[in-house]
Amino acid sequence: MGANAIPPPGTRRPVSGLRRALIAGTLGVLGTITALTLPAPSDAAASTLGAAAAQSGRYFGTAINAGKLNDSAYTTIANREFNMVTAENEMKIDATEPNRGQFNFTNGDRVHNWAVQNGKQVRGHTLAWHSQQPGWMQSLSGSALRQAMIDHINGVMAHYKGKIYAWDVVNEAFDDGSGGRRDSNLQRTGNDWIEVAFRTARAADPAAELCYNDYNIDNWTWAKTQGVYNMVRDFKSRGVPIDCVGLQAHFNGGSPYPSNFRTTLQNFAALGVDVAITELDIQGASATTYANVTNDCLAVPRCVGITTWGVRDSDSWRSGDTPLLFDGNGNKKAAYTSVLNALNAADPNPTPTPTPTVTPTPTPTPEPGACSATITTVNSWQGGFQSTVTVRAGTSPVNGWTVRWTWPGGQAISSLWNGTHTVSGSTVTVRNAPYNGSIAANGSATFGFTANGAATTPTATCASP
Ligand code: XIL
Repeated sequence: MGANAIPPPGTRRPVSGLRRALIAGTLGVLGTITALTLPAPSDAAASTLGAAAAQSGRYFGTAINAGKLNDSAYTTIANREFNMVTAENEMKIDATEPNRGQFNFTNGDRVHNWAVQNGKQVRGHTLAWHSQQPGWMQSLSGSALRQAMIDHINGVMAHYKGKIYAWDVVNEAFDDGSGGRRDSNLQRTGNDWIEVAFRTARAADPAAELCYNDYNIDNWTWAKTQGVYNMVRDFKSRGVPIDCVGLQAHFNGGSPYPSNFRTTLQNFAALGVDVAITELDIQGASATTYANVTNDCLAVPRCVGITTWGVRDSDSWRSGDTPLLFDGNGNKKAAYTSVLNALNAADPNPTPTPTPTVTPTPTPTPEPGACSATITTVNSWQGGFQSTVTVRAGTSPVNGWTVRWTWPGGQAISSLWNGTHTVSGSTVTVRNAPYNGSIAANGSATFGFTANGAATTPTATCASP
């Protein structure tokens, strides 16, 4: 798997059980119904953060600043090392809706396009927040503000529909000391503003994972952590759509890395949500602390990935803290090596669910000029499963492909990535994403999906274009 290969997204709106699969190599098996799983090669240490994280089905991301995309030293590192991108400021409320009802996606799109063109996925950040609100929103209150929030979520999510892996729907809504809600104009519209934001977001883009994101929720004993935990538990019990909790993890003297961080991740995950470390930076960038954070994520199956809040120290919003993995000259710091080593040491198959049957079959030679597709189950759980589909070119290159199959027993896609799909009755049709339609002769591309129902590997047809 190359440095820029996109891992399947983490668990997507899990109904039950775990949906993250290991990233395994797959063998194309033309016209054969075969479930197989190959472990990541244990002796091949990956040489970049993204590739190393992908070995255990996770991603490694960075915040990207649109203003730096013409800095080639910056883009070289960012492109090489990371396979998930968060816009540092460009998708925030003041950037995307500077005037009420007038959306501006210029810079958000620059970040998004750069990510997609380089084979990366995107976390959307952020839709409802007390900070970085445009002036017009700051001056609103009550039902007018509530409606403006809903309109904003709908406007931004419509623009990026189907193109965002996970949205930070609500950011930083809890108070640092009390464990209750933070006072803000949004909070003053009524305590239900957060669930309204999540319900609005689910309807606007059902394919996106929906996250609550905050800082100082890393230490399990802190009141703020408990406050957020109780909200997520309440949401899950009442069916408010929430799929993940993002822990920003800005660690410094006042908010140090806590030794119970892993417990916190485990406890959130046990509520039935993914967890992600979304804005990691560590004052002084201790190699040990960076390794601890990485190992904590790796120890929790539903910890889907880690994002550092910038590339080089000089790119950091807290550059004086030199908190990142690359120094101002773009050199790898000791912390970089400790993170990479931890990722490379990870159990390639952390998912404690039954492994599908492995029935290897020889790979036949595809017809010249044609393409073929093979569905492989990589994970399954009570009521659902996750599959990888390998699309293989014949002896001629393929420019655009369409894969189709029919479910045998009422299965239904719940999420699909690295392709776009339509459903007609029990037949699923998947076309290539903009970035993986071209396959070299004898080459392959993959896409993945999660589905509800009993795991199955129906025969898929492939046509090009
Ligand atoms: C920060 C950006 O890094 C800065 O460039 C900007 O001036 C302020 O916001 N929590 C968040 C992020 O959720 O959006 C913040 O990003 C850092 C704290």
